[in-house]
Amino acid sequence: MLLAIPNPALVLLIGPSGAGKSTFAAAHFKPTQIVSSDDLRALLTDDAGDQGASSEAFRLLSIIVSGRLARRLTTVIDATNLRAVDRRRYQQQATHNGLPTIAVAFDLPLATYRARNAARPERTVSAEVIEDHAARMQRVLEALHDEGYTAIHVIHD
Ligand code: CTP
Ligand code: MG
Repeated sequence: MLLAIPNPALVLLIGPSGAGKSTFAAAHFKPTQIVSSDDLRALLTDDAGDQGASSEAFRLLSIIVSGRLARRLTTVIDATNLRAVDRRRYQQQATHNGLPTIAVAFDLPLATYRARNAARPERTVSAEVIEDHAARMQRVLEALHDEGYTAIHVIHD
């Protein structure tokens, strides 16, 4: 897949667990450009799935994202980004530093999220969580076009 993403930019990956966000990020960006909530949980706890470390992980994520955007460096936020309030905050920081925000949204069947999660040995996300993410993602896809991004790429496969 060929996506024209400006450099520098803030790239907001948006999608349920198992959508392929981390895979996409690794295929298109340098490791240092990717700020991942799972990686930060792993750095804190040795366990990327340790939800008890989420608030600390997101505080770290926010510090790193702010520092990179202030330096006008391309920054990819690898988290579900299903909450509008989070997306808005990151986007405002990018705008403040003169960077465009590009949304990369994943719109796949629920069965795909399930299957990809099931095929992943290192981390299990419950069926309920995946279903909740998928339902929220449907609402996000409806709202996205009114959120003022420079570009929106929707990934369907
Ligand atoms: N995968 C795949 N084909 C793709 C993309 C991903 O088979 N086109 C597989 C990956 O190899 C991985 C699983 O699907 O085993 C989940 O992909 P990942 O990128 O880890 O999904 P994320 O969206 O990052 O999930 P999470 O939010 O849970 O980190
Ligand atoms: Mg991931």
